[in-house]
Amino acid sequence: MQTEFLEHVASPAVTKPSTGPRISGHLRQRIDREFTPRWDKQWGGKFVLHGKTAGSDAVRLDGNDYLSVTGHPDIVSAQVAALRHDREFVIQSGVFVHGEHPARSLEKSLAQWVGKEDGFVCQSGYAANVGLLQAIADAQTPVYLDTLAHTSLWEGAHAARAPAHPFRHNDPVHLDRVLARHGPGVVVVDSVYSTTGALCPLRDMVEVAERHGCMILVDESHSLGTHGPAGAGLCAELGLTDRVHFITASLAKAFAGRGGFFTAPADLRYYILSSSYPNIFSSCLLPYEIAGLDATLAVIRGHDEQRRRLCAHTQRLRTSLSDMGYPIHQGTEQIISLEAGTEPDTMVLRDHLEERGVFGAVFCAPATSRNRAMVRLTLNAALTEAELSHVEAVAREVAPLVRPWDWPIARRARGSEAAGA
Ligand SMILES: Cc1ncc(COP(=O)(O)O)c(C=O)c1O
Repeated sequence: MQTEFLEHVASPAVTKPSTGPRISGHLRQRIDREFTPRWDKQWGGKFVLHGKTAGSDAVRLDGNDYLSVTGHPDIVSAQVAALRHDREFVIQSGVFVHGEHPARSLEKSLAQWVGKEDGFVCQSGYAANVGLLQAIADAQTPVYLDTLAHTSLWEGAHAARAPAHPFRHNDPVHLDRVLARHGPGVVVVDSVYSTTGALCPLRDMVEVAERHGCMILVDESHSLGTHGPAGAGLCAELGLTDRVHFITASLAKAFAGRGGFFTAPADLRYYILSSSYPNIFSSCLLPYEIAGLDATLAVIRGHDEQRRRLCAHTQRLRTSLSDMGYPIHQGTEQIISLEAGTEPDTMVLRDHLEERGVFGAVFCAPATSRNRAMVRLTLNAALTEAELSHVEAVAREVAPLVRPWDWPIARRARGSEAAGA
């Protein structure tokens, strides 16, 4: 019974028992099997992702606005102008958008910026990945995914009913072996991995994909805006744009907006519009969102100084955290994961940081594998000297309390170092 369920799993202080109709016995059993033990035993009756509410003086390392563009006057005035003046807009599926529509011109500008022929905007990065993969893979097209590739990419392979073959994280040699077993298809990688901040060895991945006659898709969600010339991304930075078949990105990271984007060759336009379900069966972006994203593109292109600052902050914090004994060797970029391992240990770490005014985001299953839970810190260009010093001081104070050198990831690293020595 739903009432019992809520009494069982939710803190009575915050949730009133539901008076709605009963949930099925099957669903109840599933919840009791999959969720209740976690809630009771691992999380102590509190939702794992929710800690304190951040005050106005908190250092916020839980957002993805890497270049700190939120509230930029050019973006705000473009949004306001669109809200005030756009009276002819029709809310409809993106598939109907054509001609001189602002969404079409945004698609062309984004594609040109990253160095591709054409592209599509849609509701989110998640929808972009699902829709594109659904259009380019099928039951006869194996999809090869890095084990840490974003969930939306796995869901895209699933939506395409394609056989999904994982390969070891950032391991082109293993990709080569898996490809030799299953034949040509689509290789799927993230440019920068969203849980660890690891950079993809993209040149090696492209070479392996080419050797096996595969297409390659790169999710640039965490490098678009932050990497490459004028922020055009990692493919552009490495001169690989012409060898990569498809680039996708969330526009909720450096663009700090709502939307997703993917590129496709110009001659596939009407094929994609006839086969990618999020483009067909979900409504298009709103005029103020399009106007905001368009203005954000101009802001981002000119933000070389912010890119430089983000890079400097990343190097500084990575060096100091590492010197304090935090095992952050998995990544190199602006996402820094403090992988405490178990969910209770991660909650303790989060609480220590938050009590001292530093707010990251807890990531755990299904966003990570079991017992690889973490507090993810994401840096941004606007962090001040005082804020960076505060994060360092807090990390130093908290280290003897949470003993990062004893975290499973640190022990594993010592183990493999010893085995290699
Ligand atoms: C690598 C990657 N791809 C796609 C997405 C989905 O983006 P959105 O939030 O726009 O749906 C995310 C967001 O978490 C991401 O990190």
